[in-house]
Amino acid sequence: MHKLVLCLASVTLLCVAGCSKSAPPAGGPGATGGPGGGMGGAQMLSSTEPGAKLFNANGCVRCHAVKGQGGRRAPDLTKVGGKAGRDAAWFVAQIKDPKSHKPGARMPSYAGKISDADLKVLSEWLTGLK
Ligand code: HEC
Repeated sequence: MHKLVLCLASVTLLCVAGCSKSAPPAGGPGATGGPGGGMGGAQMLSSTEPGAKLFNANGCVRCHAVKGQGGRRAPDLTKVGGKAGRDAAWFVAQIKDPKSHKPGARMPSYAGKISDADLKVLSEWLTGLK
C-alpha cells in the first residue's frame, strides 16, 4: 500500500517537471499553449502571395488566423478587409501602432520592426481579405 502511494507521488512529480519544461516560452495573453509548443499549434499560411509570406515572416500568423491557418489568440483576419473603413492606411496604422485604434491593445507595435515597403505590401494584402 505504501509503495503504491510513493509511486503515484513520483509520477505526479515527473508530470509537473515535464509540464513546466514544455510550456511555451512566450505564452502571451490568451495563449492556449496547445501541443505545438511555441507556435501554440498555429499553422503558417500556405499561400505564396507576397503579403501572406510577410504575414508568416513577421509572426502575425502566431496570433492571427486567415482562412483556417494561423493562431487562435487574436481576431481571425479572414474577412478583415471587408470591414468598413479598413483601407491600406488603416492597416498601416494598426500594424505600426495598435494603440491608435484601441488604447488597451494587446497586439505589439511593429514600428521600426518592418520596412515601409513590406508594410505597404502587407497592408494592401489585408485590404484584399474579404
Ligand atoms: C502577440 C499577438 C499578435 C501579433 C504577433 C499580431 N497581432 Fe494583430 N492583433 C492582436 C490582437 C490581440 C488584436 C485585437 C486588438 C488588440 O487587443 O490589440 C489584433 C488586431 C489586429 C488587427 C485588427 C483586426 C480588427 O478587425 O479589429 C489587424 C488588422 C491585425 N491585428 C494585423 C496584424 C498583423 C498584420 C500582424 C503582423 C505584422 C499582427 N497583427 C501581429 C494580436 C497580435
